[in-house]
Amino acid sequence: MGIEVVVEGLTKSFGKQNIWQDVSLTLPAGEVSVMLGPSGTGKTVFLKSIIGLLKPEKGRVLINGVDMVNSPEREIMETRKLFGLMFQDGALFGSMSLFDNIAFPLREHTRKKESEIRRIVMERIDIVGLLGAEGKLPGEISGGMRKRAGLARALVLDPQIILCDEPDSGLDPVRTAYLSQLLIDLNAQIDATMLIVTHNLDIAATVPDNMGMLFCRNLVTFGPREVLLTSDMPVVSQFLAGRREGPIGMSEEKDAATLAAEQTNGEAWGRPAPRTVVPQLEPSPGMPVRQAALRRRERVISMMGRLPEAARTAIMNSYTPTLDGGRR
Ligand SMILES: Nc1ncnc2c1ncn2[C@@H]1O[C@H](COP(=O)(O)OP(=O)(O)OP(=O)(O)O)[C@@H](O)[C@H]1O
Ligand SMILES: [Mg+2]
Repeated sequence: MGIEVVVEGLTKSFGKQNIWQDVSLTLPAGEVSVMLGPSGTGKTVFLKSIIGLLKPEKGRVLINGVDMVNSPEREIMETRKLFGLMFQDGALFGSMSLFDNIAFPLREHTRKKESEIRRIVMERIDIVGLLGAEGKLPGEISGGMRKRAGLARALVLDPQIILCDEPDSGLDPVRTAYLSQLLIDLNAQIDATMLIVTHNLDIAATVPDNMGMLFCRNLVTFGPREVLLTSDMPVVSQFLAGRREGPIGMSEEKDAATLAAEQTNGEAWGRPAPRTVVPQLEPSPGMPVRQAALRRRERVISMMGRLPEAARTAIMNSYTPTLDGGRR
């Protein structure tokens, strides 16, 4: 079963540039979470801070009692073995076949025999649908295949925590839909805690159990998916609607003058139309039940009283049995 990741009061700067401050959230064990946010808000920096590759000045990231910010480097290295990381750019070695790329972490971090490595690598290649392409070089396959190879590589060490940085970038809508299903099926199979950074609204709406958003150096919100999906905060509704009107500008944050002009020129943002929350993806037929979905249901129901009205209604609707006995 996946492991809970607790982030407490995390603050990160590079020199004088503060990236974000006082970020606190918990990734519940085995659940899938998505982090949204305009370009440059520090989503990649956040992922790197969780695995201890970047050091925030303040705060803690607790995993099995190890603080990925302040613990001795030896403990951080040990805990890092629990992670599978899928980079934004795939980060495959261009001169190595897909097989060797995917085998790399096993050859680097374990003493497994080559026959065992072969078994594991081929199993992961099968999971991501790349059987037959294992002999190809990264330059000989499509961007979507490279993404999936990056995912296969993230899976070889049996990770209990999986971080995916924009797994959809460069994919067409159909491939993105397959990838969404793949992430849910994967979660059903291995029950790993997953954090996905994405700009893709379809993934955001259909994949995660929980969602958060970074904007203006702060974590705007983090919680059950229904909270963000029904939020009427201007920054959230602008992002989800992909509109120009709202607090997000071309270089992240609009300045005060632009904002004021927008409001007075009749471009006032107004109250967004209520959004409907589409159902979350279910594992494909034949896949095990997502244990995390069962745990999540208990967890969310226990926190109902603290959630906004719109989110409560959406949660209640999603957990209301339909006539055929299934969930809507
Ligand atoms: N190693 C570094 N040294 C200095 N500044 C950095 C470093 N890494 C990132 N930054 C800065 O931190 C900010 C956030 O970068 P980050 O890559 O996390 O954004 P992002 O939210 O992932 O954006 P995108 O959606 O475009 O991938 C940027 O201004 C970037 O220039
Ligand atoms: Mg990034």
